[in-house]
Amino acid sequence: MADSITITDNRTGESLEVPILDGGIDAKAWSKLLPGIWFHDPSFGATSGAASSITELDGEAGFLRYRGYPIEQLAESSSYLEVAYLLIHGELPTPEQFEAWRYEITHHTFIHENVRKRFMEGFHHDAHPMGMLVSTIAALSTFYPEARDLTPDVVMKQVVRLIAKMPTLAAGAYRHSVGMPFVYPDNSLDFAANFLSMMWKTAEPRYDANPVLARALDVLFILHADHEQNCSTTAMRTVGSSHADPYVATAAATAALYGPRHGGANEAVIRMLTQIGSIDAVPAYVERVKQGDVRLQGFGHRVYKNYDPRARIIKKTADEVFEVTGKNPLLDIALKLEEVALSDSYFTDRKLYPNVDFYSGLIYQAMGFPMDMFTVLFAIPRTAGWLSHYMELLDQDSRIYRPRQLYVGHPVRDYTPIERR
Ligand code: SDX
Repeated sequence: MADSITITDNRTGESLEVPILDGGIDAKAWSKLLPGIWFHDPSFGATSGAASSITELDGEAGFLRYRGYPIEQLAESSSYLEVAYLLIHGELPTPEQFEAWRYEITHHTFIHENVRKRFMEGFHHDAHPMGMLVSTIAALSTFYPEARDLTPDVVMKQVVRLIAKMPTLAAGAYRHSVGMPFVYPDNSLDFAANFLSMMWKTAEPRYDANPVLARALDVLFILHADHEQNCSTTAMRTVGSSHADPYVATAAATAALYGPRHGGANEAVIRMLTQIGSIDAVPAYVERVKQGDVRLQGFGHRVYKNYDPRARIIKKTADEVFEVTGKNPLLDIALKLEEVALSDSYFTDRKLYPNVDFYSGLIYQAMGFPMDMFTVLFAIPRTAGWLSHYMELLDQDSRIYRPRQLYVGHPVRDYTPIERR
């Protein structure tokens, strides 16, 4: 039996055999047989938009691999900066390559003073940090006009700048929102510890993050670094396909991540758990979900029809964090919610399991991050994933994204002057 399908146009009796390659069917083949007929897939639930070698995940088996390496091994043994190198360059770095990469990232953490003083301080005191982040990332595009030059070495310079500056912009947004002075990067600290210093430093000469918390945050950064063609990565590739510069493309991806159906879910989970309020109230809430009144935030996934492998690792990391911070009281409600949901056919029939967002917010809250910073914590590491897809798109010399549509509107009709309407 050949690895192929045969499509027949019953209007003409004409048939075409199309090979199944890499788990897909090339659309150009059927376009020949069916000119002007489009396969309709509005949210791309069954459509491949790219051939990518960056991340592989399997929804049924429940595995996630970056460049072939299982996420469990990377979370156990790697660091976010090393994973960022792997995503961007395609291979794990040698010691020399890693040292050069670490040096580059560490020495590009500063942002132009105008971005801080003139731009970030211009936001309202209660501006949502995600709104500030989207805007300031786009603003960086105006500080590096060379970024419109998409030759590989110029793009790589912007990639290093963006990965390095995201924590600085993120922490700056937080400090602005609480009326605290901006904290400059400390180049003697590693990636996660430097971010925690920019977040929490007050009068002390140097902020030394708790190593357990810094490592936990670094693991969370690894887990959030990429996830193939998710909504925000698709936004990155769509904007990148017009050859917009890496900054505005990253701003577009960050904007997509902001939505509660995507990166905003970790904030929505905490609001949901707080609203439930107690273990006793869990069964009633689950009933409301089953009635369709509310969604179970942090549950469900377009691809994972099994437990999100990241959620399993996050649950383990949570225990390590709570050893230091004390247990988040909402954890018991979350565990009860998971227990009740996973024993109820409404959820198991729909293959709704905890996703990456279900437990991450509990850790962030225990570490002292305010809820409106949770999605920002997702955007920081995902920047490496977004940029690896941007570079892959350029390497593949992909055409501009321009899907077709099914027109279901009015047929042609004549304009009528307003006095006759
Ligand atoms: C992320 O794509 C990625 O890779 C994303 C991400 C990444 O790393 O980039 O993994 C990160 O975004 C994780 C998802 C975070 N979002 C949430 O936790 C929000 C809550 N989840 C849902 O809104 C929903 O599950 C989505 C958005 C995640 C998935 O949406 P789909 O694939 O469009 O799911 P669906 O609407 O087709 O659901 C199928 C059924 C429906 O019921 P029926 O109409 O068949 O009766 O399941 C139901 C849905 O109503 N359903 C839920 C539910 N999610 C789906 N019911 C209750 N609670 C939920 N959370």
